[in-house]
Amino acid sequence: MSKQIFQPNAEFAKNANIGSMDEYNKLMNKSKDNYEGFWGEYAKEKLDWIKPFDSVLDESNAPFVKWFDGGKLNVSAQCIDRHLDTRKNKAAIIFEGDRGDVQTITYLDLYKNVNKFSNLLKEDFGVKKGDRVVIYMPMIPEAAYAMLACARIGAIHSIVFGGFSSEALKDRIEDAEAKVVITADGAYRKTKPYMLKPVVDAAITEGSPVEKVLVVERNNEEVTWVAGRDYSYNELIKNKSTHCRYEEMDSEDPLFLLYTSGSTGKPKGVQHNSAGYILWAQMTMEWVFDVKENDTYWCTADVGWITGHTYIVYGPLAMGATTVMFEGVITYPDAGRPWAMVENHRINQFYTAPTAIRVLHKMGEDTPKKYDLSSLKVLGTVGEPIDPPAWKWYYEEVGSSKCAIVDTYWQTETGGHIVSPLPGATPIKPACATLPLPGIMAEILDPETGEKVTEGESGYMCITKPWPSQIRGVWGDEERYVKSYFGDVTKDGKAVYFTGDGANYDEDGYITITGRTDDVINVSGHRMGTAEVEAALKKESEVAEVAVVGKPHELKGEGIFAYVVLKHGLDDSRFEDDVAMMKNLNGIIKKEIGAIAVCDDIVFIPGLPKTRSGKIMRRILRAIAKGEKITQDISTLEDPSVVATIEKMVNG
Ligand code: PRX
Repeated sequence: MSKQIFQPNAEFAKNANIGSMDEYNKLMNKSKDNYEGFWGEYAKEKLDWIKPFDSVLDESNAPFVKWFDGGKLNVSAQCIDRHLDTRKNKAAIIFEGDRGDVQTITYLDLYKNVNKFSNLLKEDFGVKKGDRVVIYMPMIPEAAYAMLACARIGAIHSIVFGGFSSEALKDRIEDAEAKVVITADGAYRKTKPYMLKPVVDAAITEGSPVEKVLVVERNNEEVTWVAGRDYSYNELIKNKSTHCRYEEMDSEDPLFLLYTSGSTGKPKGVQHNSAGYILWAQMTMEWVFDVKENDTYWCTADVGWITGHTYIVYGPLAMGATTVMFEGVITYPDAGRPWAMVENHRINQFYTAPTAIRVLHKMGEDTPKKYDLSSLKVLGTVGEPIDPPAWKWYYEEVGSSKCAIVDTYWQTETGGHIVSPLPGATPIKPACATLPLPGIMAEILDPETGEKVTEGESGYMCITKPWPSQIRGVWGDEERYVKSYFGDVTKDGKAVYFTGDGANYDEDGYITITGRTDDVINVSGHRMGTAEVEAALKKESEVAEVAVVGKPHELKGEGIFAYVVLKHGLDDSRFEDDVAMMKNLNGIIKKEIGAIAVCDDIVFIPGLPKTRSGKIMRRILRAIAKGEKITQDISTLEDPSVVATIEKMVNG
């Protein structure tokens, strides 16, 4: 059945950067006809080069590719310095604190703050080009300064989301061999202080590569200071010069690492490099959000995720936009908080995750009506498939049926949007990411044949040509990069990039993303590897075996469901009851990964369904978690009777 279709707002389309499907098609065809010409032109037009590039794309060592080779630039200068002539007094960042405190940082302020920060890192901490710096920060402007200061001096930042535990932070610090950590004492959540510094303290144990820790004093709560290691940002920054010459970086010099979960093993350090990343970050801001010179744009993500990197900091600042940064919780003090912020700051583009939309919908269906949301032009969503009821509420109640919804599909590895509507051009359908963006050769392929699938068929979401903002490598593990992304699908004899997602085309060639095909769970738009959660659960000595799967969740999209086999069997546990064991296991997860990975369901079962070769049949476990009846042939299992037992235990 075909979905409802909504045409772009005609008034909006008149001034949109891409204002019709004709324009979209022209751009798409241009990129298909002359791929390198298309990208070369944009790279020249959009970026300020210290030295022009010699070649557009070098695929001779694919899948290791080079974009804009020979060129020199600096990403911090792209985001700040080049705006000083025309925008020095324009707001670069509008910060709203948890408690409602507001700070406006102009491009000139940003320039000074980032330069001082760069000088601090160089002079006091000896940070040099190529060094890795871990950033473990709350959502405060200093997080953005830290990122841009690293970019300015050529250091590679690796942000770790503030919700990760000390163990998770430690793993990431050690994998990247970071010698500096930038953190804060803590920040505020629901008006109460919460702490980050103690987590950093616990992550730096003997043998840690970390030499120095910089602490931004945000909530001024008591913290421990380790002499010779920990320094106050607030003190050191005082006498720093507001000028720091930026490093001349090669196009392919690394800009940052961002750890993300895969289906196996530990999280991988996704590496993004300078020129290609910043080019696409800027272009997609202009195309997908259609941000104009006087607009105020707000993305509710955290800088600890790729969305925060590309669409709070790098993309908006590269194009000279005003970006809002929010420290608090969008449902606090009530579900009117985001709409009050839209009204107060006259926000024009609002970008959030389906989980947030579902929660805001549930908590305050009529709340948007109480606010003046007339400034809104574009509404965005990202991170997981959005369900039609949430989409409809967003469109009608938040956007008053006049704003485009851009359902942006992309991932940490793609650096920026891949498949998305263009607000002034693409007729949209609820819960549909629609079409690939111009320049992006995204296709749904049959994993067996590598052929493009036809209407109504499902396949693998692939990208058949390298693109400028693509992942450049997995930090320290070339083989894992090749295997993880180029090992599954071959088209015309060439390994192509596979996203890990399934998708299908509808009768208009529109793409709907159906979700991961691998063992990655998407919890509230956050990627969790089942292997990571299983490894954490196995730290409990009572656990013999464990299998973790995703289960649909009303608000979170997916919840985590763990099947646990205890060593002492079902009746013989040394714990008084299952509840105590569940609490204990979730406590371990909090310690090993963080509260975001806590299991919604834990069931203790007598054994896992396995093939005779010992492979766990996750498909069966996923189906049982969903409450489905098992109808498939299970006679090849080592012990088929276990399936009925588990079914009965879970679904009664
Ligand atoms: O499964 C897809 C889902 O989120 C995954 C990427 O997660 P991450 O790297 O953490 O980045 C999230 C923010 C870009 C994808 O593989 N995903 C992302 N956007 C969408 C989506 N699923 C459906 N629709 C989307 N718009």
